[in-house]
Amino acid sequence: MEVITVANNKGGVGKTMQAYQLSCHLAFKGHRVLAIDFDSQANLSTTLGVNIERTLIPEWLIGDVTGKDVIISVEGKNDFYKNLSLIPASRHLSNLSKLLILSESEVRKCAGRKERLLKVRLQEVIENYDYVIIDTPPMLGDELVMSLVSSTRVLVPTQAQDYSIDGLEELMDTFEIIKETENPTLEFAIIPSMVNPRRKIERQRLEELSEHFNTTPVVRNLVQMQESVSTQVPIFLMGKKGRGADDFYALWESLKLN
Ligand SMILES: Nc1ncnc2c1ncn2[C@@H]1O[C@H](COP(=O)(O)OP(=O)(O)OP(=O)(O)O)[C@@H](O)[C@H]1O
Ligand SMILES: [Mg+2]
Repeated sequence: MEVITVANNKGGVGKTMQAYQLSCHLAFKGHRVLAIDFDSQANLSTTLGVNIERTLIPEWLIGDVTGKDVIISVEGKNDFYKNLSLIPASRHLSNLSKLLILSESEVRKCAGRKERLLKVRLQEVIENYDYVIIDTPPMLGDELVMSLVSSTRVLVPTQAQDYSIDGLEELMDTFEIIKETENPTLEFAIIPSMVNPRRKIERQRLEELSEHFNTTPVVRNLVQMQESVSTQVPIFLMGKKGRGADDFYALWESLKLN
């Protein structure tokens, strides 16, 4: 089972877009996929057509409920949805850190330290999935740390427009700490996201970005991408001669996610 986290502490850079398209793509290819919405904004859940009153993620993490109670099947017209399961979020998830402090003794019993909670829970469902894809909120909080400890890779969508090496370096520092302490084999990929290649300034910033980091093929800023989310149809099934699908296929190919 490969666990892939999509992360960037900067908001609105295309994390949920990546998590949504990748989860659907891998399920379409016949892999058994578990998508986890670890963001209280619940955008991934909504895009997958799931709206719930109250998430049970905190209860699942501390062991009050089982995987069966939090994992739901995603319904949809296309056949691939049968391969896709989801742990949905709701606004309630914003209390996670507080709840974990209040449940300190359960946390210690389950996992030793709270950073390892998600990893322990994922190990319980390891047989059932080929891929776990985690969408995270735009902050360096417990959700992100738990996801990084559990993951084999991290995908980091980065907007060249507002590109700031300082911001990325803060995130890289977090990766390094996790690698040194909990997860030495964690790998990451920087994905230039929502790129407008016609703008000279963006091309320059992309170049600058690739001088500092290994970057993947870019995902362009295209109206079609927004349509994919608003109509809840993955980009590779949108039917039009898709430039959006081309971008994602090139990206997944480079990441060997086929
Ligand atoms: N490649 C793209 N082209 C055009 N629009 C995009 C693209 N990627 C994302 N968007 C749009 O930009 C907005 C932000 O994208 P998204 O929600 O994926 O970002 P995010 O990083 O998950 O945000 P947050 O930090 O709030 O969770 C959404 O409206 C989305 O539809
Ligand atoms: Mg998001």
